[in-house]
Amino acid sequence: MIIAVDGSAASGKGTLAKRLASHYDLAHLDTGALYRALGLALLRRGLGPDIVGEEEAAGHVPDLDLSLTESADIRTDEVAAMASVVAALPAVRQNFLSLQRDFASNPPHGRGAVLDGRDIGSVILPDAPFKFFIDADLEIRADRRTRELQGKGQSVMFRDVFEDMRIRDERDRGRSTAPLCAAADAVAIDTSSMDADAVFTMALSHIETGPGSK
Ligand code: DC
Repeated sequence: MIIAVDGSAASGKGTLAKRLASHYDLAHLDTGALYRALGLALLRRGLGPDIVGEEEAAGHVPDLDLSLTESADIRTDEVAAMASVVAALPAVRQNFLSLQRDFASNPPHGRGAVLDGRDIGSVILPDAPFKFFIDADLEIRADRRTRELQGKGQSVMFRDVFEDMRIRDERDRGRSTAPLCAAADAVAIDTSSMDADAVFTMALSHIETGPGSK
């Protein structure tokens, strides 16, 4: 079983992907964490969003320390912004492609895989039988992210998180390679007024009764 979950920042796609993985005993890959890990590795080398070149950024992918994907250090707004910048570079995306497809075709555990990101249903796994596209109003997403970061002890303010997210959304949706967009056959869920349980229940019902279940 393969499930693709795409969506905007703080839309609830990661939470949904984790819950689906646990429910169906699937391996889960948070592909945003790959771009964040690369962003953090480049920042630590003193390379900021304005000075990193495409080949240089892409050249770091093969040797990327994948344990960074588990690090709390990738969960900052600075790293998110850097991730979004490097994710717009076609050579970077190309170098992450096989890792993601290999994970789906040969999951490290479980009975299949769920991948969440921006282009899973559209580019990485266009034949996935189950695809979701998760989105919510920007203001609501920024509010969720502000509370999440504050809950982790980061001193952030709503208006800064809102502005960072607006810019990142624009970049993710507007880039020419694999922009954030719903695959034509994805089930779209607007989570603006839904909690995580309601989103999970809706996704489950699509999986159990939708065309991909046959
Ligand atoms: O899902 P996230 O917020 O952790 O993702 C961080 C950035 O990585 C996001 O702004 C865009 C990029 N990204 C991407 O371009 N493609 C993916 N499949 C996942 C993330």
